[in-house]
Amino acid sequence: CEARKVALLGAAGGIGQPLSLLLKMNKFVTELALYDIVGVAGVAADLSHCNTPVKVTAHTGPEELAGCLSGADLVVIPAGVPRKPGMTRDDLFNTNAGIVQGLVQAAGKNCPQAVLEIITNPVNSTVPIAAETLKALGVYDPKKLIGVTSLDIVRANTFVAEARGLDMKDVDVPVIGGHAGATILPLLSQTTPPVTFTEAEKKAMTEKIQNAGTVVVEAKAGKGSATLSMAYAAARMAESTLLGLNGEPNIYECAFVQSDVVAGVPFFASKVLLGPHGVAKVVGLGELDAFESAALQDMLPQLKTEIQKGLDFAKKV
Ligand code: APR
Repeated sequence: CEARKVALLGAAGGIGQPLSLLLKMNKFVTELALYDIVGVAGVAADLSHCNTPVKVTAHTGPEELAGCLSGADLVVIPAGVPRKPGMTRDDLFNTNAGIVQGLVQAAGKNCPQAVLEIITNPVNSTVPIAAETLKALGVYDPKKLIGVTSLDIVRANTFVAEARGLDMKDVDVPVIGGHAGATILPLLSQTTPPVTFTEAEKKAMTEKIQNAGTVVVEAKAGKGSATLSMAYAAARMAESTLLGLNGEPNIYECAFVQSDVVAGVPFFASKVLLGPHGVAKVVGLGELDAFESAALQDMLPQLKTEIQKGLDFAKKV
């Protein structure tokens, strides 16, 4: 397979560190360029002792950002502040919007060909900010901008496997919509292998998946939000993206991308095909049952508002 440089921005954080380790173990990565505003030298020194072929480089502070990004094939961004109890993902907006905008601007300038994966919340707003930022630079390619929602899929797979006593590795639940509260919609009717739920079970399972991030925030009691499971999910998304870039056919993941699957909603998470240039195709939603159709209609006002908030922020600045 070809040489692949991955840049990780926010590498010294709660998500960044375990994600660095998982990427250091990834067989498609040749160089792992770590960037943060603090603490990245230590993470890189530590990680560089693992005897895998991935070359690790450390980049600290804005003056070293260009070097981190130049030549990158994939840029993964978990930089920002995490949620505390009582906050929604949307509450993070003011701090994280500016961080994402600055980092995406640098990526647009230094590695316009790279696929960008945004983890920083609120993803429903930070992905539109990234799109506008790249547009302003004249380098926006919707195939190369991905909001990472894989943790919703990972959670749905885990919870459905547990509930039905199925093998964890066999279960696949598509999750569509966005990445906050009611905008997270697992399509339980499209689960593989097929499973059946009563209406009450469907509602309870859907809410469990939607609320899973908040359960972690509360359990961490002020120390942040999901980091290990988020890193695991992001590593899966990165691996699938690298497989696609390397020409592997039939790699599908759910992700939050520019989309026309729902009229009037410019960004939407659904199943996408990954290819040599990023997103090769946005797959439609398939058939929804009555519960899912109603939940989809119900979420749209929130999702549209959060997308618009991102677009407005980027246009204003
Ligand atoms: N450039 C690079 N790194 C930055 C910047 C910046 N401008 N601002 C902050 N960071 C770094 C911090 O120094 C820190 O190392 O981002 C890292 C964030 O780590 P944590 O505070 O531990 O947060 P984490 O739990 O990793 O979550 C980060 O991902 O899932 C989302 O909601 C979550 O938005 C949050 C983000």
